[in-house]
Amino acid sequence: MDIGHPELVAAIASEIAISGPIPFVRFMDLALYHPQFGYYMRHPDDGNPRIGWSGDFYTSADVHSILGQAVAKQARQIDDRLGNPDPFTIVEMGPGKGLLAAHILSACQRDSGSFPHRLRYVLIERSPAMRQRQRQHLSVFMNQPNLLTWADSLDELGPGSVTGLMFSNELIDAFPVHRVQLSNGQIEELHVDYRDGRFVECAKPLSSDLLSHRVRDMKTGWPEGYRTEVNLQALDWMNQVGRCLQRGVVLTIDYGHTVQDLYRPDRKNGTFLCYFRHSVNNDPYVRVGEQDMTAHVDFSNLAATGEAHGLSVTGFTNQLSFLMGLGVEQMIGDLEPESPAFHAACHLLKPNGMGGTFKVLVQHKGIEHPRLDGLAFKPFFGAALTAQSAA
Ligand SMILES: C[S@@+](CC[C@H](N)C(=O)[O-])C[C@H]1O[C@@H](n2cnc3c(N)ncnc32)[C@H](O)[C@@H]1O
Repeated sequence: MDIGHPELVAAIASEIAISGPIPFVRFMDLALYHPQFGYYMRHPDDGNPRIGWSGDFYTSADVHSILGQAVAKQARQIDDRLGNPDPFTIVEMGPGKGLLAAHILSACQRDSGSFPHRLRYVLIERSPAMRQRQRQHLSVFMNQPNLLTWADSLDELGPGSVTGLMFSNELIDAFPVHRVQLSNGQIEELHVDYRDGRFVECAKPLSSDLLSHRVRDMKTGWPEGYRTEVNLQALDWMNQVGRCLQRGVVLTIDYGHTVQDLYRPDRKNGTFLCYFRHSVNNDPYVRVGEQDMTAHVDFSNLAATGEAHGLSVTGFTNQLSFLMGLGVEQMIGDLEPESPAFHAACHLLKPNGMGGTFKVLVQHKGIEHPRLDGLAFKPFFGAALTAQSAA
């Protein structure tokens, strides 16, 4: 069995040798983001581009450009709601290989008014290797002065420095998560040990008070052996987004659920998954550093944390409704019927696929509750989101 990238395995094993078993969240952070050898951080030795048809998983931008077109249209409407500020800034967080950014920028630049001239696009990307790929995908926009800038993290943006749109697609599900399980009526946290050349799991007491606080009320109705994930980094991130945004909208697209749905008793194995060459598995202790790891997002706690940092919930919907509200029917109507592009665009709308699984959380700050086309189709679980928040 391929345990993983040799230098990465050695680095994690050495940390365990020094400190003892590490919380799973630390293992996942090293597997994905070890500065030299992490899955997202290094230039793949085998040319595997991670994201895309020849990688391990694909995202909406690999399928068709309509999501980028819709986000651009939504950004343009937000620009009007804000009174056409100069600059209007789009901050994209976790841009992957930069394809969605390219789609958004192309669509924004087709606007015939002042919008393209006032637009600034900031890419927040933790990985130097991914930043390099983004520069390649966005090379056609690089000759436009002041349009594109990069930062390693939101820490580099000043408080209240953004007026515009703060956006992410499949960022939060890539944050390292704590994994917990119910054993003999007690919640324990999964830790990772290294024995006889293999990573093995062991359960230990919860590693932080913050985690204890979060799980305290969650375990109602869970059966013995129940396992799930807690994404504390998502809450820090939401706090930072609230700090950076002066006026505007936050748009977060990801796999996820309300808190009640995510932690319901029958979801007894949680939502943690690994992706390798477009196949799914649930074993994070093989191909370490060679496969992606994800867990679904708790949108209720994200929304509640945003509220505590000045971000009001505008609405919560799914990708299908978001795209419908922004005129996807017209966009698809312009495609050759039954062409590959037509089928690709429809793929993003499937209620039992990407259209329903991806959720869209919209928050606002510094403007009166804005009416946005992306929420024109009933944000049917908007009320459930806030009513059930566990923050
Ligand atoms: C699953 S990919 C996102 C895909 C992309 N948004 C798309 O739509 O194709 C996750 C991306 O987030 C980046 N990332 C993870 N944690 C981050 C953080 N804390 N700050 C900025 N970028 C981060 C990863 O390096 C990677 O580029």
